Amino acid sequence: MKNFILFCLFIVLLIPGISQPNKILIIPEPVEIRQGVGEFEINSNTAFYFSKLDADANAIMAAINKDFSEAGGYKLKAVSGEVAPKNSVQFKLLSTVDTAIGNEGYRLDVSLDGIKVSANKPAGLYYGMQTLLQLLPNEIESNKRINNIKWTVPVVSIMDNPRFGWRGMMLDVSRHFFTKDEVKRFIDNMARYKYNMLHFHLTDDQGWRVEIKSFPNLTKVGAWNVKKTGDFYKLSQPADDEPRDYGGFYTQDDIREIVQYAKEHFVEVMPEVDIPGHSLAVVASYPEFSCSPGIKKVNSGETFMDWGRQGAIARVDNTLCPANENVYAFLDKVFTELATLFPSQYVHMGGDECAKNFWEKSDQVKQLMQKEGLKDMDAVQAYFVGRISKIIESKGKKMIGWDEILDGGLVPTATVMSWRGMKGGIEAAKMGHEVVMTPNNFVYVDFMQSDVAIEPPVYSTLRLKKTFEYEPIPEGVNPKLIKGGQANLWTEQIYNERHLEYMLWPRGFAISEILWSPKGKKNWNQFISKVEDQFERFKYADRKFAPSMYDPLIKSSKDAKGKLQVDFDPEITGLNIHYSFDNSYPDNYYPSYDGKSISVPIDATTLRLISYRDGKPIGRMISIGVDALNKRAGK
Ligand code: ACM
Repeated sequence: MKNFILFCLFIVLLIPGISQPNKILIIPEPVEIRQGVGEFEINSNTAFYFSKLDADANAIMAAINKDFSEAGGYKLKAVSGEVAPKNSVQFKLLSTVDTAIGNEGYRLDVSLDGIKVSANKPAGLYYGMQTLLQLLPNEIESNKRINNIKWTVPVVSIMDNPRFGWRGMMLDVSRHFFTKDEVKRFIDNMARYKYNMLHFHLTDDQGWRVEIKSFPNLTKVGAWNVKKTGDFYKLSQPADDEPRDYGGFYTQDDIREIVQYAKEHFVEVMPEVDIPGHSLAVVASYPEFSCSPGIKKVNSGETFMDWGRQGAIARVDNTLCPANENVYAFLDKVFTELATLFPSQYVHMGGDECAKNFWEKSDQVKQLMQKEGLKDMDAVQAYFVGRISKIIESKGKKMIGWDEILDGGLVPTATVMSWRGMKGGIEAAKMGHEVVMTPNNFVYVDFMQSDVAIEPPVYSTLRLKKTFEYEPIPEGVNPKLIKGGQANLWTEQIYNERHLEYMLWPRGFAISEILWSPKGKKNWNQFISKVEDQFERFKYADRKFAPSMYDPLIKSSKDAKGKLQVDFDPEITGLNIHYSFDNSYPDNYYPSYDGKSISVPIDATTLRLISYRDGKPIGRMISIGVDALNKRAGK
């Protein structure tokens, strides 16, 4: 009988017009998906029902209509009404709480007769809408009109809610400035994948990016450096007369606009002012806030720090003086203005990588140590952090900082953002502090995504698969203290928005899934199918992504006789990697890697390789010199 049913199903699927339902590919993976049979079509007559046509309804319709007006050529109508007729879409806030879905979850039910999204809170309706957009054909992302397509949604019941409340992305707008419109597009993309926290890294050695009315030099002087292009931190020293006209800043009106825009996308914006280190832009603007004399300039990418086992050593003093009361008065004013601009509960004070070598030489700091009984430089930094926590709390905000705020003793009320791995986060959680886990070995999306032979060079590599393995809750800590995590996007080597997108996607998909989806549903192969589906959507949307998962890492070694060998380490299965040593461009007629080490011919000068799948090139052509392979292999 069972075989007979399967046979009938097989025959039915062969009948033209009765096709197999498309697989449901959503990022981040929802908690529960039950797919039915058939589909519902949205067309220009489909009305969208809301109990009230308020700001939340507008936010939902704005996102839907952005896609429909570009790809469909029409806008959909929003209607106010508690009961939705057949053939419509309804967004409904529940009058009795549905405990399964919490504050940000939703239920999405698509039937042959219509669609219903229900939630306890507007955020849930918004995320239900994002899922609905991903259920539509990929062409919906097109920014050009698509003809001859039906905007169908498969019949399905989805129940969903996030694993973590803090699903962040950190954007560094100091190292390279990104305009207000670029930040808004960044927020659009965050919201698509259900991120809800924009950590705005607004200040660093390369620029101060927010207007502070009581200290105008911060943006008159501190927001500008010399335009240089090349390897950041190895760029040439600017001459004194080179124009300092590269950079920019957000006016307070710009900030209000960004914060409002983010709110309409259910994203909170948390400002970071990185102190007491990373403050060259401040001391270039107001030299009196440094412990060391002399004029300082905003960094333009030239080397000015050395990184040793002892930590950071600054060649130019880029720190605020912890022994100067005027520094605290200055920061009080800065945090007062920021508190009025950013409704976020948290304010980030940085605290990372503070070089202490100028403090060590400062008489002012020595006097402070004597007066306050501070035994070493960590204690001096802890004193500074303690003062800052009082200032931030006096504005009604909670202070968060990078894990260096643990050094020298942690302020009792502080939240820790763990970046030097998970260690600091574990230590803080064991002390009962809240933690946001952003370990550099899993979520630093400024690192290279594959081999340096093909990727824009950065000092470290973080492949998609490693990011996907990220688990924010370590063993042995109270999981309630782990608020969530973030993708951290530092921009030293990111000069423009296209490259920003390249660095963020697809690793941003992996992090969204880790922060939203149930841990038990993690599935690498299924994730890769979804990533490839998103790549198609990105092509329609003209967004950039990194195809790095198709390019293997190249490993070289010496055999017992000292002969050079290479191996390829692909990130996904199903690839044929074809290669050459004869200086020609390999294609699928060339030898392909079979998992066994390849001997490098003695006179070869260059290895070239390219990944194919199903007979078609899918990776990029990679060239690497045999000299470089020898260097990698070592002795
Ligand atoms: C950091 O990456 N310095 C927080």
